[in-house]
Amino acid sequence: MIKLTPPMGWNSWNTYGTNINEELIKETADAMVETGLLDAGYDYLVIDDCWSERQRDENGRIVPCKEKFPNGMKAVADYVHSKGLKFGMYSCAGNYTCAVYPGSFEYEFIDAATFAEWGVDFLKYDYCFKPYWQQGHLLYKRMGFALANCGRDILFSACSWGVDESHKWIKETGAHMWRSTGDIVDSWKSIVDLAQKQISLQPYNGQGCFNDMDMLIVGMHGKGNVAIDGCSVEEYRTHFSLWAFLNSPLMIGCDVRNMSDSTKDILMNKDIIAINQDSAARQPYLADNNPNVMTWVKPLEGGDVAIGFFNLTDSNQCPFLPFDNIGLNRSTGKALQLTNLWTGEDLGVFKDIYRTPVMEPHTCLVLRGKLVDAK
Ligand code: GAL
Repeated sequence: MIKLTPPMGWNSWNTYGTNINEELIKETADAMVETGLLDAGYDYLVIDDCWSERQRDENGRIVPCKEKFPNGMKAVADYVHSKGLKFGMYSCAGNYTCAVYPGSFEYEFIDAATFAEWGVDFLKYDYCFKPYWQQGHLLYKRMGFALANCGRDILFSACSWGVDESHKWIKETGAHMWRSTGDIVDSWKSIVDLAQKQISLQPYNGQGCFNDMDMLIVGMHGKGNVAIDGCSVEEYRTHFSLWAFLNSPLMIGCDVRNMSDSTKDILMNKDIIAINQDSAARQPYLADNNPNVMTWVKPLEGGDVAIGFFNLTDSNQCPFLPFDNIGLNRSTGKALQLTNLWTGEDLGVFKDIYRTPVMEPHTCLVLRGKLVDAK
């Protein structure tokens, strides 16, 4: 399998942690269809940590928790598939998962075969409890081999948190996405921290294996497993725009059965999703070196360009973009017709430079530019 655009879907961890069960997963699958999330592109439903029994069975096979999943995982996968969704699960490269359930270390091929049998389409593979004498890249390679030979197309989502220089070796393992960050929590500070750490990692981001900035916190509003302070709607909008802009997989982490209208508007903005899912899948770049008021630029299929201004500071800002910084010097005779992707407003044609209106703290402005002749 080659993944041409960042995966999209939902993952149980951010809101539910250990509180997962068959009923919740079925209701989530229903909600993903009924709310329009599936139609918007969110097609993977992923169960994170805490789904199994604490012990393997006598044949070394991993066993779903009988209380949480009384009908086993194949039944869950069948239900998820019946809704037109794909089904994802979680394991770990070490002896245990991060919540101390059995990991796949030295059970890689058995587990990959089990997942294939159950109808799994996506495996998130964590990095806790790695034996200290083992090199991480070899463990991801083992699971990469196992998945590639399990007889089913399973998307390999590596979760080594960007440590051990994983950017240098993760593509070798067969991973389709890799966690380039530590864990997200539901707070503005976490959004800023994770975004700033991505700047130097963009050259590793692209078709086949996307930098994963962790699951989205949009719509959590301080409730759930990774809740801290919660964020404002504007902050969630900025977070979503950043993740979309930086080609991160878009894995929703909130309770999709109870989304507010503003949460739905953010998660299902077609124009912002189109930047994330652009078929050229170019890495974005910073048009200047300011990590606090970021100006990201991403060339799009067909010649348009996406421009995102992100005010990560606590004060008003008026950033600007000289077009020379993106390859449009005055000598080209070209200008940009700009559209605001959050409001749909056509801002007009700009030559040489674009200056934003005053941007309030923690807000963003995401534009799509079309090349036109300068008059
Ligand atoms: C962390 C991982 C989280 C979540 C958690 C489960 O290592 O980064 O996304 O999967 O483990 O215990």
